[in-house]
Amino acid sequence: MSLHDDVGRVLISEQALQARVAELGRAISAVYTDADHLLIVCVLKGAFVFLADLTRHVDVWHAVDFMEISSYGAGTVSSGVVRILLDLGRSIEGRHVLVVEDIVDSGRTLDYIRRNLSTRRPASLRVCALLSKPSRREVEVPLDFVGFEIPDEFVVGYGLDFAEGYRNLPYIGVLKREVYAGPDAP
Ligand code: PRP
Repeated sequence: MSLHDDVGRVLISEQALQARVAELGRAISAVYTDADHLLIVCVLKGAFVFLADLTRHVDVWHAVDFMEISSYGAGTVSSGVVRILLDLGRSIEGRHVLVVEDIVDSGRTLDYIRRNLSTRRPASLRVCALLSKPSRREVEVPLDFVGFEIPDEFVVGYGLDFAEGYRNLPYIGVLKREVYAGPDAP
């Protein structure tokens, strides 16, 4: 029995992810200069794998900081409740800030983060999301860099979880329905 057996199909392969992340790194590097002293804010926990790969493709000086936000419980649908579990270590006033997210679904988490960070008076505030589900959007949030637009399926891997598991899969996969809904689910 392997963790991979819980995955019904691979939506985005490891190779496709790596190629796109490298492209995003180049696009980000073209927007900022070393003099911007860019600060990349990784939204935990989901973005940690993406951040680790992306930062190595960003060829301008940058620091990294972390925020942990929780919007979902153990289920698969956003509760709409957003909480800061871990805040940034330092002030972002006057800094060029790039928020890195794994996925934008309803948009509520990112909307909250943008509004919250804006009050701290950064010099600029942009967003890079690996995945976006446009069909699920409830709040319009501007995305400056997007890896992939995906359909409304329950995806795991490359940082994304189900009940805290599967984050370590090297690809984005769609979980088998019986894994998250149980064997008797309709
Ligand atoms: C996920 C994801 C985003 C958010 C997107 O986080 O990382 O932050 O949900 O959903 P939304 O657009 O509907 O707000 P989650 O709360 O699952 O936490 P995690 O990153 O720790 O897995």
